[in-house]
Amino acid sequence: MYKSYTSLDFREGMIKKRLERIKKIILITSGKGGVGKSTVAATMAALTAKEGMSVGLLDTDVHGPSSAFIFGIRSLPKEDRHGLLPPISNGVKVMSLDLFATGKPIPVSGKGARQIIKELLALTEWGNLDFLIVDTPPGTGDVLLTLINVLGKKAFSIVVTLPTSLSISVVRRTIELLLTSQIPIFGVLENMSYRADVGKSHSQSRGELLALEFGVKFLGELPIDYKASEAIDARDMPSLLKTDFAKTLLTLLEKSKLFNYNKTQKLNDGPIQ
Ligand SMILES: Nc1ncnc2c1ncn2[C@@H]1O[C@H](COP(=O)(O)OP(=O)(O)OP(=O)(O)O)[C@@H](O)[C@H]1O
Ligand SMILES: [Mg+2]
Repeated sequence: MYKSYTSLDFREGMIKKRLERIKKIILITSGKGGVGKSTVAATMAALTAKEGMSVGLLDTDVHGPSSAFIFGIRSLPKEDRHGLLPPISNGVKVMSLDLFATGKPIPVSGKGARQIIKELLALTEWGNLDFLIVDTPPGTGDVLLTLINVLGKKAFSIVVTLPTSLSISVVRRTIELLLTSQIPIFGVLENMSYRADVGKSHSQSRGELLALEFGVKFLGELPIDYKASEAIDARDMPSLLKTDFAKTLLTLLEKSKLFNYNKTQKLNDGPIQ
């Protein structure tokens, strides 16, 4: 009698084993480009590490990876018999294609992108993690669909939008996709809502209305903070963490109970409901 295999992709077994050692997977999504997904993902990862958690950041932007840049990492990942060891910066284990591409173009098409994501998930040796934060590329194409497919059972999402009608209209479609794919949405985050040096002047934001529309939590608003973009340009994470942008993000994350919730969780206990 032949054993019947449900899948001949042997990476799937490796990925499953690695995911067993990760408590929570957060996809930072939007669908819209340039809204600050990578900035939020990197800052959130560093803030979470500062809270004493073990954190990994997986940058899945195949064409425009930016996490190694933001963290100022210039070294290639090392390898041992367990897999690729992500470099650690500011307490965060970072895996991103910009570690390998070193400024070169990455001309991959749909199928190639899907394979790269699976390879990264199969090969990266994260060890035990409290959080794996996954930075996603713009759009709802191959990469996001692969992530939903492979990580779906354990992942939940934070959705980033700008306070513009254009952003909201794109992000609305992404929320629909996530919800129909059974990815729980932990909350909607509105980035670049007001100027850090001026402060808030409005009461209800568009991001909040969007969250209400889908009955999901609104996490709050983040300021446009030129000091944050300067710190990113300087590849200076410690300075980024001192900005109003990072301080506001920390306050919103604490308010959302994201950290407390996960501290009390056991391994393998599924996504946040
Ligand atoms: N709150 C903010 N204040 C000031 N600048 C910001 C803020 N958020 C993001 N930026 C800047 O905006 C630009 C785009 O941000 P980022 O790369 O994080 O967006 P993204 O959504 O990841 O883009 P992509 O869709 O291309 O991946 C960056 O130069 C970043 O430094
Ligand atoms: Mg990005």
